[in-house]
Amino acid sequence: MPIYHTLGSIPHKRHTQFRKPDGSLYAEELVSTEGFSSLYSLVYHAYPPTIVKELGEPYSVEPKIAREKHLKHTSLIGFNIKPEDDYLQSRKPVLVNSDLHISLAAPRKSMTDYFYKNSQADEVIFIHEGTGTLKTGFGKLKFEYGDYLVIPRGTIYQMEFDGEQNRLFIVESFSPIRTPKRYRNQYGQLMEHAPYCERDIKRPTDLETHDEKGDFKILIKKQGLIYPYIYGTHPFDFVGWDGFHYPWAFSIHDFEPITGRVHQPPPVHQTFEGHNFVICSFVPRKFDYHPLSIPAPYNHSNVDSDEVLYYVDGDFMSRKHVVKGQITLHPGGIPHGPAPGSVEKSIGKEFTEELAVMIDPFRPLMLTEDAVNIEDENYYKSWIS
Ligand SMILES: [Fe+2]
Repeated sequence: MPIYHTLGSIPHKRHTQFRKPDGSLYAEELVSTEGFSSLYSLVYHAYPPTIVKELGEPYSVEPKIAREKHLKHTSLIGFNIKPEDDYLQSRKPVLVNSDLHISLAAPRKSMTDYFYKNSQADEVIFIHEGTGTLKTGFGKLKFEYGDYLVIPRGTIYQMEFDGEQNRLFIVESFSPIRTPKRYRNQYGQLMEHAPYCERDIKRPTDLETHDEKGDFKILIKKQGLIYPYIYGTHPFDFVGWDGFHYPWAFSIHDFEPITGRVHQPPPVHQTFEGHNFVICSFVPRKFDYHPLSIPAPYNHSNVDSDEVLYYVDGDFMSRKHVVKGQITLHPGGIPHGPAPGSVEKSIGKEFTEELAVMIDPFRPLMLTEDAVNIEDENYYKSWIS
């Protein structure tokens, strides 16, 4: 994320002696991405982050593919995913390809007896229901309804939920998650025409140094396996850090919609991008104001992209019978469009309260077993009037 941030104590010069009150050295760690060529942070630990005491047996969390190839408009009833106590077990991948995995989760309990690190993917966790705190060595990030938590790969974290009713929509990206390049100037700053700016980015606060030795279980995800590691020092033993690589958050409620006299295309809703996909936010906004405008979207053929919509809240002018947490997947290759009657109905409307997250992957998505279990099988017929 291109905003410099720092918390805690750091030495005046990087890579120089930085000592504890007892005279011993803090342990410096460079956390870098794309080799040494992209964003990085320098972290100062109470102890080296390398003290492995034990390795457990790895186990697979690879998505189980139920439908590898398909050409069918599909809908999933996301809130039919059953709540589960454990955070990691509650995460159910539903739509996957080699660029991203989309999961749903309804975790009931906070993570208390282990830490988690995704070493294969950046995570974007959209908070649909629930509040709490993302705890990391970089500091704490409080989250609430509407937040996108962006957790770069390699960040060790714990989710602390305030209650048991939580609904999460999760994107694991095998490439770095970035703000759209066209919204950044040559120095990385978000420009005036961007729908949000640096002021809207929530950064970690309240760095707490856990200067603790013992047995600390970290479940590390890599190549579809979870590797249980026991480390000898607390992973949140940062005394300070600085740089551009850290977890952050952005609220969908802070996305300023771009509107026009006639229907605006989906890229105006773009919020993030990864390799071969984009994430967009549909937020309450004024409708098109040309005197003959049609606010409902036109039929369209995604010639080379699938389209996933995750319905969050409000009324959806283009579809009937949509419920919160519902997902629609419109695969590239066949057209889709507004539900019968919704075009006429939209004419003259001035405002929409719809709230949704859209993901356009440029390579086809596969459906998992968890996805077909919550499928609305007749959705593909929903355009018959
Ligand atoms: Fe669409």
